[in-house]
Amino acid sequence: MAHELRHMLRDDDINHEEQVQILKLAEHFRQNRYYSRPFEGPQAVAVLFDKPSTRTRSSFSVGVAELGGYPLVIDKSGSQLGRGEPVSDTAHVLSRMTSAIVWRTFGQDLVEEMARNATCPVVNALTDSFHPCQVLADLQTIAMHRGGVDALAGQSIAYVGDAANNMANSYLLGGATAGMHVRIAGPNGYLPDPAIVADAQRIAQENGGSILVTTDPVEAVCDADCVFTDTWVSMGEEGEYAIRSKPFWPYQVNAQLMSYAKDDALFQHCLPAYRGKEVTAEVIDGSQSVVWDEAENRLHAQKALLTWLIAWQRDDTSLLGE
Ligand code: CP
Ligand code: NVA
Repeated sequence: MAHELRHMLRDDDINHEEQVQILKLAEHFRQNRYYSRPFEGPQAVAVLFDKPSTRTRSSFSVGVAELGGYPLVIDKSGSQLGRGEPVSDTAHVLSRMTSAIVWRTFGQDLVEEMARNATCPVVNALTDSFHPCQVLADLQTIAMHRGGVDALAGQSIAYVGDAANNMANSYLLGGATAGMHVRIAGPNGYLPDPAIVADAQRIAQENGGSILVTTDPVEAVCDADCVFTDTWVSMGEEGEYAIRSKPFWPYQVNAQLMSYAKDDALFQHCLPAYRGKEVTAEVIDGSQSVVWDEAENRLHAQKALLTWLIAWQRDDTSLLGE
């Protein structure tokens, strides 16, 4: 580790060993909320929202405060970004005042432009293309229920539903980085970008995992250790509600589909969930569901990620407890 500006814009911005390091740190934070306080001072962290949020807003706000910092939460309607100020100008200004920039927005190109112009770490808090903070929390949730972070490699995870959305892309890259067998199922027209699948296949091969993309939900879920789904209508797609629902019905996660997974398979959903649509109440509110652990782990995983990014920038491994 040498002084280096690192960002988390997509799940493959970290390699396998780095993901393990962050997830182990997240587990330390889960067991000891004040394990490390890199923003003691307090230093500010900008948390920008161009889309709604409950979990990301609360977990970054609470997390930055627990790291000793000041969360500066800015909504699109209350910032000049929303009136067309260039991303690069915003990056220059925020870099002079804050220790990190966290941004939920639409295009992946926007967070990339922020990172190119910032002199502090930039974190993607969800774009149309990826949601890497969510997948760190989801992997931590499997680890806490399945014997720790070192037990993740080799497990099978299945995601069914809108396979072209940000969660599908992040499970592909994040699961491949973890060395997992990642199965993604969705209807024709809603399958992942082949370029992302190719990246995931290369990364999976390096880490002993594998990738399967299919239109058959049973093939994806068969013998899975964890089953995931997400809304059929992501933020920004509300106008497509009528045309989107129909093709996804065979991909609803219900008790019958879950019966194809391992008997002790976990169920996760990034939330917000729409019961009776992508998942039935009996599954999300049932005994295999770990969605509240998953939501809580956003806090721990993001504290670990921010601490790790700051440790790189300061070349200070003591922040990681090493
Ligand atoms: N899962 C997730 O990111 O939730 P929010 O949209 O509430 O932040
Ligand atoms: N795919 C969803 C995830 C919400 C956390 C969306 O982008 O709206």
